[in-house]
Amino acid sequence: MSGPMKVLLTGGTGFLGEYLLVELLERGHTVWALYRSESRRLDTIRFLGSLGLPRNADGLHWFKCEVLELDEQWDKLCQQNHGIDQVNTLLHSAASTRLYMDKLGDPLRTNLGGAKVLVRLLARIPMQVHIISTAYVCGLVQDAIIREINHPRGDFVNVYEESKWDAEQLWHGKATLLRPSIIVGHSETARCKSFTGWYILFQALHLLDRLLHESKDSNRLDLNINLPAYSHAATNIVPVDYVAKAAVAIIESSDNHNNIFHLTHTDPPSHQWTMNYICKRFNMGGIHFSGAGTPITEPRNLIERMVWRQMKTILSHFSNNPVFDRSNTDRAIPHIPVPPITEDRVTKLVDYAIEKEKGAL
Ligand SMILES: NC(=O)c1ccc[n+]([C@@H]2O[C@H](COP(=O)([O-])OP(=O)(O)OC[C@H]3O[C@@H](n4cnc5c(N)ncnc54)[C@H](OP(=O)(O)O)[C@@H]3O)[C@@H](O)[C@H]2O)c1
Repeated sequence: MSGPMKVLLTGGTGFLGEYLLVELLERGHTVWALYRSESRRLDTIRFLGSLGLPRNADGLHWFKCEVLELDEQWDKLCQQNHGIDQVNTLLHSAASTRLYMDKLGDPLRTNLGGAKVLVRLLARIPMQVHIISTAYVCGLVQDAIIREINHPRGDFVNVYEESKWDAEQLWHGKATLLRPSIIVGHSETARCKSFTGWYILFQALHLLDRLLHESKDSNRLDLNINLPAYSHAATNIVPVDYVAKAAVAIIESSDNHNNIFHLTHTDPPSHQWTMNYICKRFNMGGIHFSGAGTPITEPRNLIERMVWRQMKTILSHFSNNPVFDRSNTDRAIPHIPVPPITEDRVTKLVDYAIEKEKGAL
């Protein structure tokens, strides 16, 4: 490490952003954290406080701004926030994680629009730039090995992935691109703030479990559900604490700057493993894999229809099966192992999500 960084962090109130903050503060860096909502900032301050962070008054400074206005507001921000003009590193984690376009044009508006604003800011204020992207900028692929390179425009599973690919195009060679796969809760505590992606499958099956309790028409051991995916394929999930630790360790070394890193799992659970777990946990059966791209079984009753509706948004994720190469990451941080995905860990993650849904946490 070449000395403490003075980091402008965007997205610090988000799921990953909070753990980036933890890691940066624990490792003695100074952080200027951009926020836009006072209540979200207070939540993050409470979370950091529970870990005894920040350790000194000068470690963390907050400033309020929309990422889309950062360039035009910069001079004013410098007048109002003494020392912000000393930042030498940008760690950009803010994003819209909506999978499909909304009325405001998100996720494209925030993800590509935000990147354009930052490129303009960087033209005036030199900083080392590190971008949190996603491993799924590779688009839809089957079993192919995905290297840590700039991919040609792919066949994207959703607008979110496309917006992240578009944003990456502005940064190649000028910024470090950190590409996590699907981020799940903390490897020890299971704490999570964003129950998207992988969690949607469990939400759907938890819903199905409750509906089946109330129904006499369905046989829970013979659900006759065909998932349009291959059983050997995997959903690459990775704990949030690993992503944060890996990201900060990578950007601390100038040897890594402006390269691409997959922050992905080395041994992700196969769909078959996950389905065996689910069937055991919820006492269900009759969920089969029919191969990527095959037609979806028509729901036979109201219960199946409701579960399908819930799962639809992530069905395409099951069909996608990239195998992520991690040569750069393994070379840069061989000392940081990825926590294995064990049955105990998945149980903790699912329990946490269920308790959160009940409002018990
Ligand atoms: N979660 C995953 O599975 C996953 C996987 C791969 C990559 N990633 C990437 O990881 C990064 C963090 O994701 P996350 O899961 O932590 O998302 P998140 O929990 O939704 O957090 C998003 C953060 O971005 C901020 N933000 C959004 N739009 C903004 C705007 N216009 N101006 C200022 N701040 C804005 C949010 O602020 P508020 O708190 O005010 O809303 C929040 O702090 C993103 O770049 C995402 O694409 C996530």
